[in-house]
Amino acid sequence: MGSEFEEAPVTALLLCSDPLASARSRRPDPHFARDGEHAATVAVIDHDALVRGDVEDAVRRVPAGLGPAWYRGWMLTASRYADLEAALADRGCLLLTTASAYARAHELPGWYPVFAGHTPASVHTADLAAVEDWLARAAAELGAEAAIVKDFVKSRKDAWDTACHIPDLGDTEQRLRVVNRFMELQGADLYGGVVLRAFEDFAAATGATRQARVWWLDGEPVQTTAHPDTPQVRVSPDLTGLDRAVAALGCRFVTTDLARRSDGVWRVIEVGDGQVSDFPSGTDIGPLIKALTAARPPA
Ligand SMILES: Nc1ncnc2c1ncn2[C@@H]1O[C@H](COP(=O)(O)OP(=O)(O)OP(=O)(O)O)[C@@H](O)[C@H]1O
Ligand SMILES: [Mg+2]
Repeated sequence: MGSEFEEAPVTALLLCSDPLASARSRRPDPHFARDGEHAATVAVIDHDALVRGDVEDAVRRVPAGLGPAWYRGWMLTASRYADLEAALADRGCLLLTTASAYARAHELPGWYPVFAGHTPASVHTADLAAVEDWLARAAAELGAEAAIVKDFVKSRKDAWDTACHIPDLGDTEQRLRVVNRFMELQGADLYGGVVLRAFEDFAAATGATRQARVWWLDGEPVQTTAHPDTPQVRVSPDLTGLDRAVAALGCRFVTTDLARRSDGVWRVIEVGDGQVSDFPSGTDIGPLIKALTAARPPA
């Protein structure tokens, strides 16, 4: 029975289960184990089951009536996240990032309009059958000398010269070659569609892009870390004006990756849902998890 003295339910952490453990084990995937060390209440979901569409199986180990929770785990498509949200709600667990907020932060077309003044100009298409025609229009619209290509979530930065960077966007053959190679490498994993982004010079001063990942909770930058690809590189970004964009996005828990352009201006390389953003090794995740588990559902 409810009473004014009843304590608000503790906010739990839902981690991916260890795929090597037994089907009943509550052991988290080692990649997320340190997240769980700082939370009072932890439950696990089966990411593999969720990806193959077996959502009931995925949430089987979540105790009934768990209450409010954040997910911390591998990336999910927006539609799988919506499946997860619904299955958890049926068990009395409320994800504090809604499925629509997840999609907005996770997919470039969701966050781009809000961050347009802070991030390289971008155009996208979801019509993969007509990419070649779109590319001509997109290149003209962007009007940039050079560009990079990615899908709505990921690039192939590992194949920078052949499937990511387009040094001469006006070169019809070159841009088609890079975009086609990108699509080929992504294959069935291509998420959402193709994005063309104006190239900006982030590496001129140092020879490498030095990024900071800022973790925002309820509009506050609760922690600033390295980018997980370069955990030893620490930079202090200028966040002026960014809080307004984060607030306008309307998602409770997001990350922004920032890099300093050669003219000194800090730019957003990408936005992400904080639940699926990787945390760099060698950095204490305690402050972030403590802030997350102290958060409560909207009144
Ligand atoms: N507009 C741009 N101009 C110049 N370089 C860029 C631009 N966009 C991205 N890059 C470079 O390409 C890399 C990959 O881009 P981005 O971070 O958008 O893709 P990703 O595959 O999602 O990477 P992550 O591993 O961070 O999730 C960035 O780290 C940055 O070095
Ligand atoms: Mg990135």
